[in-house]
Amino acid sequence: MESYEAAKDEIKRIADIVELIGQYVQLKKAGRNHVGLCPFHGEKDPSFTVNSSKQMFHCFGCKKGGDIFAFWMEYHKVSFPQAMKDLSERYHVTLPEKEFSPLQKEKQELGDLLFEINEIAARYYNHILTKSEKGRPGIEYLEKRSLGKDVINDFMLGYAPSEWDSLTRFLKSKRIDMDKAVKAGLVIPNKDRGYYDRFRSRVLFPIHNMKKHITGFGGRVLDESLPKYMNTPETPIFRKGELLYGLHSAYQVIRESGRVVIVEGYMDVLALRSHGFNGAVATLGTALTMDHIRKVKGYAVEAIVVFDSDSAGKAATIKSFPLFLNEGLSARVMVLPEGDDPDSFINKRGLDDFLKFLDESMPMFEFYIDLKISRISKGIEGQVNLLKEILPVLADVDSDPQRLLYVRRLSEKSGIAESIILSELRNQRATRRKEGNEGRLRERLSNLKMEISPERDLLNLMIHYPSAMDRFIDSEYRILLSDPDIIEIFHCMDGIYRKEGRIQLDELPERLEHESARETLREIMLSAPICPDDSIEQAINEFKNKILKTKISRSLRSKIGDLEESSKLLNIVKDSQN
Ligand code: CTP
Ligand code: MN
Repeated sequence: MESYEAAKDEIKRIADIVELIGQYVQLKKAGRNHVGLCPFHGEKDPSFTVNSSKQMFHCFGCKKGGDIFAFWMEYHKVSFPQAMKDLSERYHVTLPEKEFSPLQKEKQELGDLLFEINEIAARYYNHILTKSEKGRPGIEYLEKRSLGKDVINDFMLGYAPSEWDSLTRFLKSKRIDMDKAVKAGLVIPNKDRGYYDRFRSRVLFPIHNMKKHITGFGGRVLDESLPKYMNTPETPIFRKGELLYGLHSAYQVIRESGRVVIVEGYMDVLALRSHGFNGAVATLGTALTMDHIRKVKGYAVEAIVVFDSDSAGKAATIKSFPLFLNEGLSARVMVLPEGDDPDSFINKRGLDDFLKFLDESMPMFEFYIDLKISRISKGIEGQVNLLKEILPVLADVDSDPQRLLYVRRLSEKSGIAESIILSELRNQRATRRKEGNEGRLRERLSNLKMEISPERDLLNLMIHYPSAMDRFIDSEYRILLSDPDIIEIFHCMDGIYRKEGRIQLDELPERLEHESARETLREIMLSAPICPDDSIEQAINEFKNKILKTKISRSLRSKIGDLEESSKLLNIVKDSQN
């Protein structure tokens, strides 16, 4: 590719935005568009819209949108040059040498280098585990834990031998800059002896991101010593709160089954995998975050959380519940027998029993209520506190029968009369509804504004039938415009048209100066044409009339209006209506 622009066009030509975004967001076809739940803000009804023919996306909720590059940058939180790089690799388009700003270049190069060093280290550790005598303790350990060759290969597991500097020496032999190896978190500087390895005598679990690059490692000791697990520290490419172990290889299965199983540990993901269950992911020893849920909600219709049945596991489940509710991802809880985690369970009882427990897992709501009730103090005070905590959550349940069921359950378990819970709940929901109604009214009003705005309609006509520009270019159509965003869009289209004789729609968004104008443009591009193909002529005439009428009423209103001019105009209107 000779230029960056040409490479960009080439990528846009090859890539299909629906296919690309579809890998990250569950999309459904809806008329000419595809829609799904927005990955950039919390929502329960899909307003995230992707259009294949226009190769763009737009969220009617948070207004984020643009082309595949915009999506990639926002989703992966990367700069434009990085997005170019990622997508050009993905679609096999060669990039020209490009001058980045020194800072950009440095940051990107550091990231690339850290991924590269991690890859080299992972291969080294994997080689030790599978091919070297030094890896024997690791292999024996994994065998003891029933993990076989397949899983070891698929997840590139490794073993860090019990030496102070085996990786350090290996990296040096590969001429890796030790400063960078330190930045990757793999080696640690030592005042006297240069450097030593962070991971020693541990089996290693490389952690991949969605681009299948290794961002860091978790390492487990083979005995009871502490700490049991050691992870890569936070580095420029390793941020624990965003990562889910195993998602890079589970997402297809999750999308097909609509169900993601969230567990606590590396070993849980791998044990399930070795028994043939491929739809599980694990947090990296951190609490579940909104970012985690957003990552999986694109693929899954429901999440099943399998936390250890200890009290910490239960507490974590409880904390995650409002997050699921907010993100609109339905969630269930799988309760394992006391003392088991998914790994020990499936190794003892096999896949069928695991699937049975999975099917029987209870809605998280129920789990939530049960646990809250089990914790309250006796007496009125406890009951008051319980209601204070649970009612706001109950009020969020939209389905009436479901809500009533929970009320009944809450009443049975807590001894609080059903009628009291119901009336309190009614109050809560009434307040909510009032707030909600205002929001909906605002929405209706703004939709109304959209429906009756002639300038939006005119823009719609020209966007969907660019040749209509021919018919308006020399008319005084600007008289119909008042919205600054629409004026900006028309101004830009007009300029392009006059210069190039046609409007290239896919370039239009980039040429606009204001984001709000881009938002308006995307919304109009994604909305249906205001008229069917065979009525374009009629629509054009109607607009021409509107222009004339507006001119007349303005000149009449301005009183100094030239009567002769007005009557001339009136005649034209009559003519065109005949
Ligand atoms: N973890 C961690 N650091 C620790 C302990 C735990 O990062 N010191 C994280 C790891 O990601 C681990 C997860 O928390 O996989 C769950 O921890 P735990 O339940 O203690 O371990 P298991 O996954 O059950 O591991 P094993 O079965 O090997 O004991
Ligand atoms: Mn375990």
